[in-house]
Amino acid sequence: MCGIVGYIGKRDVAPLLLEGLQRLEYRGYDSAGVVISGRSGGLKAVKAKGRVRELEARIPKRFAGTTGIAHTRWATHGAPSDENAHPHLDTEGRVAVVHNGIVDNASELRAKLEADGVVFASETDTEVITHLVARSQAESLEEKVREALKVIEGTYGIAVMHADFPDRIVVARNGSPVVLGIGEKEMFVASDVAALISHTRQVVTLDDGEMATLKADDFRTCTTSGTRTTATPETVEWEAASYDMGGHDTYMHKEICEQPDAVDRVLRGRIDDKFSTVHLGGLNLDAREARGIRRVKILGCGTSYHAGLIGASLIEGLARIPADSEPASEFRYRNPVVDPDTLYVAVSQSGETYDVLAAVQELKRKGARVLGVVNVVGSAIARETDGGVYVHAGPEVCVVSTKCFTNTVVAFTLLALHLGRIRDLSVADGKRIIEGLRKLPAQIQEILAREEDIAKLAAEYADATSMMFIGRVRGYPVALEASLKLKEISYIHAEAYPASELKHGPLALIEPAMPTVAIVPDDSLLEKNRAAMEEVKARSGRILAVAHQEQAKADHTIVVPKNEDELDPILMGIPLQLVAYHTALALGRDIDKPRNLAKSVTVE
Ligand code: AGP
Repeated sequence: MCGIVGYIGKRDVAPLLLEGLQRLEYRGYDSAGVVISGRSGGLKAVKAKGRVRELEARIPKRFAGTTGIAHTRWATHGAPSDENAHPHLDTEGRVAVVHNGIVDNASELRAKLEADGVVFASETDTEVITHLVARSQAESLEEKVREALKVIEGTYGIAVMHADFPDRIVVARNGSPVVLGIGEKEMFVASDVAALISHTRQVVTLDDGEMATLKADDFRTCTTSGTRTTATPETVEWEAASYDMGGHDTYMHKEICEQPDAVDRVLRGRIDDKFSTVHLGGLNLDAREARGIRRVKILGCGTSYHAGLIGASLIEGLARIPADSEPASEFRYRNPVVDPDTLYVAVSQSGETYDVLAAVQELKRKGARVLGVVNVVGSAIARETDGGVYVHAGPEVCVVSTKCFTNTVVAFTLLALHLGRIRDLSVADGKRIIEGLRKLPAQIQEILAREEDIAKLAAEYADATSMMFIGRVRGYPVALEASLKLKEISYIHAEAYPASELKHGPLALIEPAMPTVAIVPDDSLLEKNRAAMEEVKARSGRILAVAHQEQAKADHTIVVPKNEDELDPILMGIPLQLVAYHTALALGRDIDKPRNLAKSVTVE
């Protein structure tokens, strides 16, 4: 999705902005642009459809300045093109705006401005903001922006420059992140800390409805209605190196390999051996409240929704509270009954996904208690929820989620264990789960050590144009997530079904050209899963099984280490991340930036 980066200080701004844009490339975009305050006054802008390197190639030799803003755009209003790329300048070229989000009343505002004689240069919703700022008669840039925002409906993270105020950048936030980076006599702004982390770890995250005026050696924050706010800088937990590839060929590979450490991190400091439970500091839920929960409803999108499905089965199994997971995007449009005794849990890696955030806001408006299971500390969803569990997977740069999925499921195990031990889970079962959790990092490492063999297997199936993924109960969300992973990065069509549903329809698809991946844990459903494989085999289907022992019915088996039944889904998902990765590699796909996808989906 769109990305913003800006700088004001003493350094040559163009290289800094380009570096920042490159760090935002992972979010997905289709065009990019930059504007600076030229040394001889006035604004200079360059824009290009395509990658940041294409923008870089267009930047003239003489493009010097020490203040500028830049943007990567992911098209919503108007096709990807040079004209629609941000920044958008007014007719005189004196005001420049970069914007993340969507102006909902753009057509209405555009019609009014056009009726007043304004000629638009693009098809974007953003350009209305530029003209509104340019036409404001207010004295300061802050006031001009405030006036413009008064008539804007929708979501925004914006950065604005004005040729008459070359010593400042004004930024504002409503539903789309804006982070200020505080340096030594220099200030940065970005929509994501990744863009500024190599320069400073001191940041201020704006709240919705907040704006800021940045000067080289100073900044002030206030609400969009003009009340001063106090901003206390925080230190970002991660070093710049965490955002680098660290010797791997892709971020996806790096992030798959980081999983033993990531799991170790989500467990660290949380296990309480004395009472066979866990401490979750940020939950804000006392024992009496926990006992009063009648249902748990988990909301997320994509991979986070899948992690939520496993989370629901963990909560139901360990805490004996009825629980389910639903795509947040669907939930918020079906006028759900919001029950005071239900605990709602919003799941998100980025903490920015619009559909999840909107569901949280709707729930809060109706008085529900909402917790977050979120990776990005201080993100919008983390801030909007009443408490929660941080996933501590570390920065996830690849568009497709791997380590964060695994850590989210582990975080759900902690939540389920915590709720279970407050309710009816025995000490012995608590201990059993804790021992299982402690085994995970080494067991994941064991799976990763077999990467070469898994890569060979992936090559065997890379010629498929379509694949079926099946699993039962705990194995079904694993099948869903593995099929999503494969389709996202290899573009191979993949379907996931409960193995029990095969004979109710999908069996019609089975033939030699459509291989099946079967999730076959050694649990009470082993024989049922074997019977499903039998059904596939009888239709001449090829089978790749992920199991705890060689499966006679399968053409190939990836054997994974056994843990407690409840924790097996975590381990069974890992080799299938590698299968997706090596399939995509064999097909020559752009693994970290798959076509049409963005890392954070901040629009509806
Ligand atoms: C993951 O591989 C996907 N690219 C996508 O489904 C993602 O999980 C989804 O958009 C939700 O993102 P979030 O976890 O940041 O909310």
